[in-house]
Amino acid sequence: MTEPKKLFIKTYGCQMNVYDSERMAEALAGSGEGQGYVTTDRPDDADMILLNTCHIREKAAEKVYSELGRFKGLKAARPDLKIGVAGCVAQAEGEEIMRRQPLVDLVVGPQSYHRLPELEAKARGGEKALDTDFPEEDKFEKLKSRPKAPRGPTAFLTVQEGCDKFCAFCVVPYTRGAEVSRPADRILAEARDLVERGVREITLLGQNVNAYHGAGPGGDMTLAKLIWALDKIDGLERIRFTTSHPNDMTDDLIAAHGECEKLMPYLHLPVQAGSDRILKRMNRSHTAESYLRLVERIRAARPDILMSGDFIVGFPEETEEDFQATLDLVERVRYGYAYSFKYSPRPGTPAAERPQVDPAEADERLQRLQALITRDQRAIQDEMVGREVSVLFEKPGRLDGQMVGKSEYLHAVHVQDANARIGEIARVRIVSSGANSLAGERV
Ligand code: SAH
Ligand code: SF4
Ligand code: F3S
Repeated sequence: MTEPKKLFIKTYGCQMNVYDSERMAEALAGSGEGQGYVTTDRPDDADMILLNTCHIREKAAEKVYSELGRFKGLKAARPDLKIGVAGCVAQAEGEEIMRRQPLVDLVVGPQSYHRLPELEAKARGGEKALDTDFPEEDKFEKLKSRPKAPRGPTAFLTVQEGCDKFCAFCVVPYTRGAEVSRPADRILAEARDLVERGVREITLLGQNVNAYHGAGPGGDMTLAKLIWALDKIDGLERIRFTTSHPNDMTDDLIAAHGECEKLMPYLHLPVQAGSDRILKRMNRSHTAESYLRLVERIRAARPDILMSGDFIVGFPEETEEDFQATLDLVERVRYGYAYSFKYSPRPGTPAAERPQVDPAEADERLQRLQALITRDQRAIQDEMVGREVSVLFEKPGRLDGQMVGKSEYLHAVHVQDANARIGEIARVRIVSSGANSLAGERV
């Protein structure tokens, strides 16, 4: 028997890429005609290196080229090594990648991953292989994983992909294409399979996950209906979803946060800015006030829900006054987590053509925003001390007999308990709050 080939995948960007990397590894694991790859976590050992890339900000995209440059030595030493680029940079820059970096053998966009075995064979044969189409066939159906090995207690499950919102700063509608929802029966079958393999918590993924509208038994479903269908799966204990757009937070989804016990009290709801003038220029189609009213309604349904968000500072034409409105909104919402980014002009998006904010000014605003976010994040984490939470154990901690897991609010919690098992959900009283995690004792 010949040794199986080894595949090294490095994943950048959002959770959707994490999910896609798993699917790509499965596609290349081979079903007969393929060579059959096993994954490795050492690039210097690999027969194929795949970078699953992100195009959301310039820094993210440039990282790919510097990473590729580092493989030069490896490729020179082992001419059989194949190097591939997948993900959103592959979609956005396609052939340009092969021109800029001749050591790349294969380029594949997010909609073509089911064609990976053919592309791999082509690359093995010494040809350059490129596929950045938006094909008609159902990639998820073709990528369907074969029943196999047990898994950890948490998993991602993509239910919706692409986006039709065209925020003026964002590349996603171009790299991931139009919004498409998967049929509910396929998602439920995948969820059941995950649960049989040991998964206790599923995070439903989509660039616009709450716009989900896949075909169901009685016509198109909503995300809330899908959550209720998942709720019935025995053994599945926790449901999360990300990322949501404020305009798609429907009444049934808000109600589910109050009524569905498996739905965790955590909601990532990006707002991007607090100034209505800037929101309009961003093409966000909501205002600061409508967002705040929405948060109030969500909190009325589920008072303890932990809110998280995304912000862009230094968007074209943003003034100090606009920025103050963002700080005001953050003060009013009190986020448990928030991610803030300096605006990065992306080729082909409308905002890239507009007058830009002075980068030093934008840096300074970013620091002020991050300080405020960190203050709230820290305070909310500290307020957990003395409370009882439930923790899903995910892995052993650094200390002997220690377990680490996540609370329902997505805080990392360390528990000292030699008998704790991975995959177990325990009631834990929080005793202290550290820099990035909590510590607790089993009750
Ligand atoms: N679909 C999600 C997230 C998309 S990308 C949503 O609708 O919010 C994740 C985050 O990256 C965005 O929320 C935004 O805050 C940030 N982002 C997107 N494009 C950006 C750009 N050009 N510059 C800086 N940050 C950006
Ligand atoms: Fe990008 Fe999200 Fe806006 Fe869609 S809704 S364009 S993914 S920021
Ligand atoms: Fe990045 Fe593509 Fe995700 S651009 S954030 S990897 S959808």
